[in-house]
Amino acid sequence: MIRKIAVLTSGGDAPGMNAAIRAVVRRAIYEGLDVYGIKHGYDGLLDQEFMPMELGSVGGIIHRGGTFLYTARCERFLQPSFRLQAAENLKQEDIDGLVVIGGDGSFAGAASLQKETGINVVGVPATIDNDIAGTDRTIGFDTAVDNVLECINKLRDTAMSHERIFLIEVMGRKSGAIALESGLAGGAESILIPEIPFSLSDICGKLMKCFYRGKRHSIIVVAEGAGSVQILSSQIREKTGLETKVVVLGYLQRGGTPNGTDRLLGSRLGAKAVEMLIQGHSGRFASIQNDLLTECDLTYPQHHRKTIDFATYELADILSL
Ligand code: F6P
Repeated sequence: MIRKIAVLTSGGDAPGMNAAIRAVVRRAIYEGLDVYGIKHGYDGLLDQEFMPMELGSVGGIIHRGGTFLYTARCERFLQPSFRLQAAENLKQEDIDGLVVIGGDGSFAGAASLQKETGINVVGVPATIDNDIAGTDRTIGFDTAVDNVLECINKLRDTAMSHERIFLIEVMGRKSGAIALESGLAGGAESILIPEIPFSLSDICGKLMKCFYRGKRHSIIVVAEGAGSVQILSSQIREKTGLETKVVVLGYLQRGGTPNGTDRLLGSRLGAKAVEMLIQGHSGRFASIQNDLLTECDLTYPQHHRKTIDFATYELADILSL
């Protein structure tokens, strides 16, 4: 019987995390549960940074980026001894359920915690990378794509004015999801992602073909996991003689107010996670598949890689000729 739960955010921050925290707290209180917030992710769980939450604690945050519970990448949590300590800390506070809002690395820690200590843990998928198998979308991804699109629109103006080739590096660690969706929506001439090998001569051939038909500027979106955008820029300049510029968007993609899609997703998944704890469905994460709320085992992303939609990649290539 679940009476008291805690919620934390872990890993890279993602716009919409606050909406998820808000939903966890208010859905739990609605069910008559006590709720604690844990600051600084798994670090705060180990250092007992527990904070009792009430309805007002999560007021005025649904539109704020980042996470008001702070986050961390906790190396200590990789060790079973620290995970045991974390379980002890939860038991000391009579906390019998934990909601972990984060990415695949955070889910791996949550799965180990549950398996090794019996603590009831559920996950909420939140990372701009959208690289968690078992859910169609992760909280933060849609806003990150919007953030990149805003930058592509701005850069296209100057690229066109100076007839330059702009290579724009986007985040995603090992996933090309941000690059693919922002590239297609932004009308990029080429999209380079780690999942699909590319050839320099093909890229240069396409640039020259566009150049001779009068399209004297181009946007190339490069996922950070696809290779060095600096090296690629100089290779293209040497091969084609065209002027190239590099822009690395970095953390701009993670900041700013979450869009409506991510606020809705955060609210739906956060509330679902509380329902899962109450129903005894721990060891799983709340997920969205075909726009339906469902659940998936926390270990599933460790054994399955999220695939890229090749048809979308091909469409982007066709439409940018
Ligand atoms: O996992 C989300 C992410 O933004 C990745 O896309 C990126 O490579 C990484 O985090 C950056 O990590 P950090 O915020 O620790 O520098």
